Amino acid sequence: MHPKLHSYVLAIACNIMIFIVSVNANHNHNLKHCSKSHRLKTVKPVKVENVTFPPFVNATGSNNNFFLGGAGVRGLQEQGKFIKFTDIGIYLQDNAVSSLADKWHGKSTKKLNKSNEFFKDIIKGPFEKFMQVTLILPLSGPQYSEKVAENCAAILKSHGVYTNEEEKATEKFLSVFKKETFAPGSSIFFTVLHQGSLVISFSRDAYIPKVEAAIIKNKALSEAVLESMIGENGVSPAAKKSLATRLSKLFKEGCAN
Ligand SMILES: *[C@@H]1O[C@H](CO)[C@@H](O)[C@H](O)[C@H]1NC(C)=O
Ligand SMILES: *[C@@H]1O[C@H](CO)[C@@H](O)[C@H](O)[C@H]1NC(C)=O
Ligand SMILES: *[C@@H]1O[C@H](CO)[C@@H](O)[C@H](O)[C@H]1NC(C)=O
Repeated sequence: MHPKLHSYVLAIACNIMIFIVSVNANHNHNLKHCSKSHRLKTVKPVKVENVTFPPFVNATGSNNNFFLGGAGVRGLQEQGKFIKFTDIGIYLQDNAVSSLADKWHGKSTKKLNKSNEFFKDIIKGPFEKFMQVTLILPLSGPQYSEKVAENCAAILKSHGVYTNEEEKATEKFLSVFKKETFAPGSSIFFTVLHQGSLVISFSRDAYIPKVEAAIIKNKALSEAVLESMIGENGVSPAAKKSLATRLSKLFKEGCAN
């Protein structure tokens, strides 16, 4: 090759590389430097029925920052009528967006909503989760907890991880709810901590208590409680849709931190 042509080709190759590097850097830059004020403007509250889920909360039992991933109603089809039982809000620790963005950035809401893998990554991701369940209809503690425990046991068995430990944890879960009654407007809160403990707290309104009612140290059960809401057969397709919509938008805005 002629020396001049050689350096010309080299120069072009160099430029292409610089371009690729800068495009990548730009992408990461956006993800890392979404300012706090931008995040505050980007994450909006969600109103479901009578409950307005605020965009940011302090979760019981954790000092980390959480934002509202999504929220939706949980109901059941009974004699041809859709009966609404609870409103569910799903909060995620603020590093969740950057954690999920690598794999899910650029995917449409529709694709995220339909992807079991996406919800699995939310359930199992290396960030804390906080769930608010606000009652629309009155339920006793056992009415609520037995249904959740039944769904969780089915989930744990399907994963082949329902051992003695999970059985004991499930019994403890039921005992925490035994004497509770939930009037419309009262709330049940779950925090899934990093090491996998499940913090449970209750309130007569939507005000999040500082002190927990109980902590259950079982990672598989903690994750199953969230999976029972937003997993493959989750009880709230509306919350899943909301998560897919809002996270897809947050990825697009590069608002990871
Ligand atoms: C969380 O708690 C801190 C300290 O009490 C407070 O300053 C902050 O406003 C709270 N954040 C939210 C979203 O309520
Ligand atoms: C979301 O996905 C589920 C399947 O997991 C589907 O049944 C439902 O219709 C979808 N919702 C929307 C609004 O696309
Ligand atoms: C929701 O609002 C309706 C009417 O505004 C009221 O009848 C109902 O009791 C409220 N439900 C809850 C759970 O607060």
